[in-house]
Amino acid sequence: MKKIVVIPGDGIGKEITDSAVEVLKKVDEKFNLDLEYEFHDAGGTAYDKFGEPLPAETLEACKKADAVLFGAVGGNKWDNVKAELRPERAILGLRKGLGLYANLRPVKVVDALVDNSPLKANLVKGVDLVIVRELVGGIYFGERCESEIKNGSERAWDLENYSVPEVERITKLAFETAKIRRGKLTSVDKANVLATSRLWRRTVTKLSENYSDVELNHLYVDNCAMQLCVNPKQFDVIVTGNLFGDILSDEAAVIGGSIGLMPSASIGEFTSLYEPIHGSAPDIAGKGIANPMGTILSAAMLLRYSLHEEEAAKAIENAVDKTLDDGFRTADIYSDGFKKLSTVETTQEICKRL
Ligand code: IPM
Ligand code: MN
Repeated sequence: MKKIVVIPGDGIGKEITDSAVEVLKKVDEKFNLDLEYEFHDAGGTAYDKFGEPLPAETLEACKKADAVLFGAVGGNKWDNVKAELRPERAILGLRKGLGLYANLRPVKVVDALVDNSPLKANLVKGVDLVIVRELVGGIYFGERCESEIKNGSERAWDLENYSVPEVERITKLAFETAKIRRGKLTSVDKANVLATSRLWRRTVTKLSENYSDVELNHLYVDNCAMQLCVNPKQFDVIVTGNLFGDILSDEAAVIGGSIGLMPSASIGEFTSLYEPIHGSAPDIAGKGIANPMGTILSAAMLLRYSLHEEEAAKAIENAVDKTLDDGFRTADIYSDGFKKLSTVETTQEICKRL
């Protein structure tokens, strides 16, 4: 038995993880994967029940699992909750607690959705890149001060820091990823201003000596943000720090037409976690119209990276592609001439194609 801990979280989290589990069950029938599921709370939902966004029991269950499937957390309902109890702390705590140091965010534009992109079709057709984001360091986890009085004024601060081993660990994974793709790595930093970025760049450059088969280039983050719009096809693998990766991956996600379609894998030394990159979308929660594809494709990544079931992973990806090719669309990607489906109906169409 392989144990998958499922954390639906908040907002549309339950609907989309239910869909992904249904697809996993279907693929299990076909490939005899022997999967079992255990459901746990996190986020605002856990805060309401237990007074904390990440109950110790949830983290412990994740540590014992073969993989974690995560929905989304957050919502305006918890806007006034103290910083350290906010729903977002659940995912940050899981990243730190499980040591999920690398976040892989692939952006692959499927032909069927080229016209959904806000960019011109000729720019986006064929885009196939992956952002490798450092996930347990940088300004997200540095020392911070919520409020202090200095020289008579209130201020707050967040500290960005990176060590050489932290940069080496993520960079190695990025080089290895590039090696089995098109052999191109772009490292993104702000080395013209930040000391952490200069250390980042030195470390990446030094490591590149071990990877003569990968072509390395460096871009400043502002330029990279622009290049993602002007010529996204130039990218194969992008490696960057936690904050830059957060921002660039949302930008890159819309190239493909909808953030609702984008999966991610957060790789740890032992357990890894899989989640769509979109949030909990409280405005459409419970309406049954959320796009489950980002979560379903995250489940495919789970099969690939944690369970080494490449064939089963590919089967899910093909079924999603086919569903789109056949003209089925959830509301977020719907336009005239297509067939509009609910979350549950979309899941059924994908299962049929498995
Ligand atoms: C993401 C999210 C999280 C982040 C939030 C929910 C803390 O935006 O996974 O990209 O900033 O990392
Ligand atoms: Mn984000």
